[in-house]
Amino acid sequence: MDPNISTLRQKLADASQSHLLQFYSQLNPEEQAELIDDLERMDFQEINGFFKNAMEASNNSKQGKLDNRMEPVPREVLGSVTRDGDCVKDWEMTGLRCISQNKVAVLLLAGGQGTRLGVSYPKGMYDVRLPSHKTLFQIQAERISKLQQLAEQKHKTKCCIPWYIMTSGRTMESTKDFFSKHNFFGLDKNNTIFFQQGMLPAMDYSGKIILESKGRLSMAPDGNGGLYRALGNEGILDDMERRGIESIHVYCVDNILVKVADPAFVGFCVQKGADCGAKVVEKTNPTEAVGVVCKVDGRYQVVEYSEITMETAQKRSSDGRLMFNAGNVANHFFSFSFLRDIVKKYEPQLQHHVAQKKIQYVDAQGQLIKPEKPNGIKMEKFVFDIFQFAKTFVVYEVLREDEFSPLKNADTQDGKDTPTTARHALMSLHHRWVLNAGGHFIDENGRRVPAIPSLKDGTDLPIKCEISPLVSYGGEGLEELVKDREFQPTLMIDEHGVHQLVKNGV
Ligand code: UTP
Repeated sequence: MDPNISTLRQKLADASQSHLLQFYSQLNPEEQAELIDDLERMDFQEINGFFKNAMEASNNSKQGKLDNRMEPVPREVLGSVTRDGDCVKDWEMTGLRCISQNKVAVLLLAGGQGTRLGVSYPKGMYDVRLPSHKTLFQIQAERISKLQQLAEQKHKTKCCIPWYIMTSGRTMESTKDFFSKHNFFGLDKNNTIFFQQGMLPAMDYSGKIILESKGRLSMAPDGNGGLYRALGNEGILDDMERRGIESIHVYCVDNILVKVADPAFVGFCVQKGADCGAKVVEKTNPTEAVGVVCKVDGRYQVVEYSEITMETAQKRSSDGRLMFNAGNVANHFFSFSFLRDIVKKYEPQLQHHVAQKKIQYVDAQGQLIKPEKPNGIKMEKFVFDIFQFAKTFVVYEVLREDEFSPLKNADTQDGKDTPTTARHALMSLHHRWVLNAGGHFIDENGRRVPAIPSLKDGTDLPIKCEISPLVSYGGEGLEELVKDREFQPTLMIDEHGVHQLVKNGV
């Protein structure tokens, strides 16, 4: 027998994972080599340890709700675009100054599998059928370009916002190809840095790794909190240090409204001397399935809706708002030194969370089984798991209709977080930008369209209007293009000018 194989068999036996070679003799030489290669690269003792700790933590969390240990975010750490409207310009100026000094980077979490959306390619490549047919990646790239330009104009100096893009084994190649094919959407490719998060095997409830075929383990990315391990392993922290980055804005690929490197958010966090900040939207409905940022036993964390009772979810403060209303939108600020401490010191303390899933597997007879109910777990860390280590934590509240519309699910009638809701959210925001800049919309008979779209055929259709991020980052600079002018939808404003499309049934 090949000596490598016997060593490997021993390693698997020691870790109670011998079943992974049960079909080895039935594989062709190429498949055998691939399986051996995969298995040799894995640290089974570490994986078994992750499993044990994650299951223990999951069982403990089922033992009691968190209600009695929770405190809401205190007002002194909160900045709000509505409640502190007077300060926003000042925060924005600070953020733009940091950007102009090349101190701000953005970091995109794009390693997810997008299973609910159900497409085979990375979610950032998705086209939600805007009039321009821009993908999520393109929209984000153009926002970065525009923001660089705004900072340059303000401070009369050339600058760049490096864009770190975290992918996984499943999304890396297609993401990179897509960027190359589109010439990095006009950004400098040296400042667009891809890196890969880790993967972990799916396991059954007894801790056995699942085979998805006779020669392949069932592997999945290790959650968006896999970020912290990847930052160290992939040399990203070093790259940030070399570039002199001081502030990092971390966000998710699926939010079509995301204000990438939002200067007001960055400026607020910098002015407060924060090492860690969370952007939130107000949770207004107690039953909304959103995690809330709050303190538990004096330390900040995100508490999921399933971890509290309805009584707590319904509690209100004296101002009438929900007491736990800081809805997490996975949009964070980190200082470089905080991230460095996390990667170098705290990452190993982060626990994996357990997600029960239906995981396709081969049974003892080698038959492929697609289970109807969950049969195993995936282990994931979450990006917000590090709040607990912050010394100066701040919360920044923004308007949901301006900044948050995630793409999670495929289109269905009345679906939530779908391509249609994302498209409508963006067009509705741009519609408001045009109105705020003094423009008007008219219908095909030349009549003014009411500012608030009416219910038509039971569907709340927004005005079809899209403004390229290359023209406006956050609604600025539109007056000279739209003030006192009337437009018939579809209106598109891009770097080539103002266009009114002929109706095309978007
Ligand atoms: P979600 O938890 O919504 O997962 O990710 P998803 O992969 O987009 O979709 P489903 O759950 O499979 O349907 C929130 C953000 O975290 C990123 C995603 O790419 C998205 O930006 N993410 C998620 C990672 O970067 N890595 C992961 O392992 C998981």
